[in-house]
Amino acid sequence: MARVIAGVGTSHTPAIGAAVDNGKTDQPYWQPLFRGYEPAKQWMAKTAPDVVIMVYNDHVNAFDFKVIPTFALGCAQDFPIADEGWGPRPVPAVKGYPELAAHLIQSLVLDEFDMTIVNEMQVDHGLTVPLTLLFGSPQQWPCRVIPLAVNVVQYPAPTGRRCYQLGQAIRRAVQSWAEDLKVVVFGTGGMSHQIQGPRAGLTNPVFDKAFLDDLSRDPERLSRIPPIEYLREAGAEAIELVMWLLMRGALGPKAEEIYRFYHIPASSTAVGHIILESR
Ligand code: DHB
Ligand code: FE
Repeated sequence: MARVIAGVGTSHTPAIGAAVDNGKTDQPYWQPLFRGYEPAKQWMAKTAPDVVIMVYNDHVNAFDFKVIPTFALGCAQDFPIADEGWGPRPVPAVKGYPELAAHLIQSLVLDEFDMTIVNEMQVDHGLTVPLTLLFGSPQQWPCRVIPLAVNVVQYPAPTGRRCYQLGQAIRRAVQSWAEDLKVVVFGTGGMSHQIQGPRAGLTNPVFDKAFLDDLSRDPERLSRIPPIEYLREAGAEAIELVMWLLMRGALGPKAEEIYRFYHIPASSTAVGHIILESR
């Protein structure tokens, strides 16, 4: 059967993608950040998943303000790279897994999670930057990717608790797929950051450290953090962290921390990264 073997939490700041695409990773500003992802890349090469379920948010690229699904699952064969205003990132197109995605949709909807089916979608930095950070710059991505887009751009975003529960349902859905597959679930965005308004540039390392600690120790506590607390304590865009709880829910009751990295700044974001293996 298919199994969720591990979870990856990582920020997805667009400037990280631009630094790679423009050959700036060795510059003093960027070098500490990319050094921090080297052990993670080695772990990923060794782990070699068959499928990644990428929990991310679209930043008004695939969806504009006409239609904003709360939970959207990408069921296409291919996901082209979005042009976010400076041309599509020069990375390979993302290959999906329509058969498994259809199974996930069926299992999740019968499990009473009302997913939106997306048969055509471009993917933005929210999805491509985490791929770059963990897989580097290959000619083709080494595994299939099923995008799961969560609305965190227009109020109201789903609660962390709902995301955690959806993650648990994804674990059940994956385990009811007969093919032997190693699945890694990503939760992306965060950590503390605010990119607009009078508090632009806000970060909160204390909040972020407690969040990273409790992903393995006490995810139930994290799942009870109300939306307003993310905004108040860690900045408006820290609400992206609910997507890390979706990843955590998919790992089952016990998860062991394998690697962590934390760095400020990347653009205006606190960059956090964690690898958890399901136990
Ligand atoms: C920025 C954008 C993001 O989507 C994000 O998650 C972090 C930072 C930015 O524009 O700097
Ligand atoms: Fe973002």
